[in-house]
Amino acid sequence: MTSSFGLGLRTQHYNDFLDAPQPVDWLEVISDNYMVNGGKPLAMLDKIRANYPMVMHGVSLSIGSVNGLDTDYLQRLHALAQRIEPMWVSDHLCWTGVHGRKLHDLMPLPFTQETLDVIGRNIEQAQDVLNRPLVIENVSSYVEFSSSEMTEWEFLAELTQKTGCKLLLDVNNIYVSAFNHGFSSNDFINGLPVDCVQQFHLAGHLNNGDHLIDTHDHPVCDGVWSLFEQAILRFGAVPTMIERDDNIPPLPELLAELDTARAITNNVLSMRGAV
Ligand SMILES: [Fe+2]
Repeated sequence: MTSSFGLGLRTQHYNDFLDAPQPVDWLEVISDNYMVNGGKPLAMLDKIRANYPMVMHGVSLSIGSVNGLDTDYLQRLHALAQRIEPMWVSDHLCWTGVHGRKLHDLMPLPFTQETLDVIGRNIEQAQDVLNRPLVIENVSSYVEFSSSEMTEWEFLAELTQKTGCKLLLDVNNIYVSAFNHGFSSNDFINGLPVDCVQQFHLAGHLNNGDHLIDTHDHPVCDGVWSLFEQAILRFGAVPTMIERDDNIPPLPELLAELDTARAITNNVLSMRGAV
């Protein structure tokens, strides 16, 4: 894989991308915002897609659902993928609702063999419809299940082996969960197979002293940049982006943060090559 650098496409920056070429290799779009039959957002998406490769990132697949996946949602996701031909399609390792009720949040799962079986079936269903490997992101969490039988990284490693799915490794989410639950973020990174990571997310969080909240409304902190270095050392060149969802600054600020990601990647890869 080669290094490439992207940003999440946000409405505040539509005109920046329409008015002039911007120094990004690709854009990540929130699938759920465009799974409609028409309207202004979809028209904007088509215009921007004409000049930028895209990846699709969803928030409502609810891959942990014991009732199986919502086939209507899956079909609309597939239709969007056919429309914009993304390089890959991702969603989160979580559940987001039950009995048709949506929680609009990414809820954590117990890391058990039973969960592996449920998610394995759901990923196969999604991959059959989308006709491509699904990319699964680790979420940040604030509670753990006493029923878990393995660590999160052991679970993810088994999941990739069992289903052929790839991982979207959110470095900030590892940092947040490691702090909140007291595990080693290096153990997380070193416990994953080296060839399974399709993409990195970098983001900021809120430090409340005794716990961290994954707010995506701050710049990336020094601790997450350090962990990013560890991730590049293990996984090599992986497509990387800054993920900002709130308190969204002017585009140049995010481009500057992306430049930091580029510089760190180049440094680590040159050190890695020299070893
Ligand atoms: Fe993320």
